[in-house]
Amino acid sequence: MENEIGEVLVTEEEIRAKVKELAKRISEDYKDKELLLVGILKGAFMFLADLSRELTIPVQFDFIAVSSYGSISKSSGVVRILKDLEADIEGRHVLIVEDVIDTGLTLNYLIRNFKVRRPATLEICALLSKPEVQRVSLNIKYLGFSIPAKFVVGYGLDFAEKYRNLKHVATLKTKVATGR
Ligand code: PRP
Repeated sequence: MENEIGEVLVTEEEIRAKVKELAKRISEDYKDKELLLVGILKGAFMFLADLSRELTIPVQFDFIAVSSYGSISKSSGVVRILKDLEADIEGRHVLIVEDVIDTGLTLNYLIRNFKVRRPATLEICALLSKPEVQRVSLNIKYLGFSIPAKFVVGYGLDFAEKYRNLKHVATLKTKVATGR
């Protein structure tokens, strides 16, 4: 399977160091608050698991699963919720944890959707961002790495559901498209 994997963009060591750095900042920023971590399935599961284990504050977890309506309607920014949050987030301190921001449309939709539910605070923590292809402005409070607009896999990110379990983030030789 490794034959399909191209250049390593972010190594396991770089991810580990960045996860610790982000977790330290988050632990300080939320030290007097009750934090709810919201993972966007599926891609964020690995980042969320590692990040949360480095936090020194008590946290709770929830998950949301979303899917765009296919490539054409993806550009409309409309997102289908496959599995909604279980928690009522009104009055809660919510930190959305995402693996990658491409166009930003998914998070833009979710931020608007979550704000209607009136959380006390709402912030974004993303491992990866591709500034070249981002189409909407987002306030990403906690960001791991800005990467080029290449199709990447590993550390939660897939190609046809494969490669999510790689310990690093790499390009895919066989895919040149930028969008996920
Ligand atoms: C990826 C990623 C984000 C979204 C980013 O999810 O996890 O949720 O795409 O794209 P955008 O910024 O252009 O909206 P994907 O649809 O690949 O689902 P997955 O997490 O289940 O792999």
